[in-house]
Order: sequence, then C-alpha cells, then structure tokens
Amino acid sequence: MNAKRPIRNLALIGFMGTGKSSVGRLVADLLHFTFLDTDHVIEARAGKPISDIFAQDGEPAFRKWESRIVEELTLRDKTVISTGGGLPAYEENLISLKTHALVVCLWASAETIYERVRGHNHRPLLEEPDPLAKIRSLLAVREPYYRQADVLVNAEIRSIREIATQVIHQFHMAQAAHR
Ligand code: S3P
Repeated sequence: MNAKRPIRNLALIGFMGTGKSSVGRLVADLLHFTFLDTDHVIEARAGKPISDIFAQDGEPAFRKWESRIVEELTLRDKTVISTGGGLPAYEENLISLKTHALVVCLWASAETIYERVRGHNHRPLLEEPDPLAKIRSLLAVREPYYRQADVLVNAEIRSIREIATQVIHQFHMAQAAHR
C-alpha cells in the first residue's frame, strides 16, 4: 500500500452472498459512517431493479452504471461502500476505489455462497440451470481481482458481528499507518 494513500472510506468487495451489505451496514453504524450500496444507487438512478436492467439493457449497460458510480465515489468521505460482486473484476474500478478507500474483500467458498443465495431470485447472473457451476466458474475468473484487495477477510462461518469487528480493526490499523 502506498504510504501517502488517503483512506477516507471503506469499500467491501466480494462475490454475491458473502455478506457485503449486512456487514457493511453494521460497520457503517459502528463507525458512524454513511452506508452506500452501489446496486441500490444504480436501481434508484435507473428507476428499475437490476434484473430488469440486465434483461432490458444487457450486462454491459449495467457495468457502465457501475463505473459511473465508482467515479462519483471518489468525492465521498466517511462512507462504507458495499459493491456489486462483479464490480472489481473491471480493474479500473478497483484502482479507483483504492484512491480513497481501504478495500476489504469478504471471501467464502462456492458451496457456502450457493447455500446463501439459493432461493433468492434477484441475481440475474445466477438464473442458470446449474447455479453452483456458474458460481464456481465466476469465482475462478474473479479470484485474481478479489485478491487485489488490501485485506482479505474469511466470511465463511463467522457471524456478521465478528466479521464487522475484524473489518473495523483493519480499517483503524490502515488509517493509523497512512496518516
Ligand atoms: C453481480 C452481483 C450483484 C449485482 C448484479 C451482478 C455480479 O450484486 O451487482 O446482480 O456480477 O456478481 P451482489 O454481489 O450485491 O449480489
């Protein structure tokens, strides 16, 4: 990490179902930061759910929304940002997040993710005959990007509170080191 790097915000990255939103909300509460979920911002701006954006406009249109929001995030302060699972797989998004935020990746196995997301129907990328196989292949493609996070946190079997506590600890250490 660059010694002069400003760390004003905290960005959570990781695959769908790793708990970014739940952990992010709790971390924001505990730090007295604002919570922002990139998926929610996109839905509000587009005026429709993500599944409709994918179905009507296509995935590239959704990814454009994501990079637009990522650019705007550079102006934020004291914000916990929960990102969509595919956002850091576009390297310029990751590079941009690192200019103002500590980037923390929540990590879980494909099997755990599958157990958590099955039965939910708002994730267009998992609307597949074999969602577990899709999770495995997407995870394999995205792993090199997720690994570029400043901190990797195991979100496999621990409670939201335990994970949030660890994230906050890492955030305080990073802020102290880069002050
Ligand atoms: C996506 C993850 C979703 C959402 C969209 C695409 C992905 O967000 O951005 O469905 O590419 O992994 P969550 O990770 O919050 O489910």
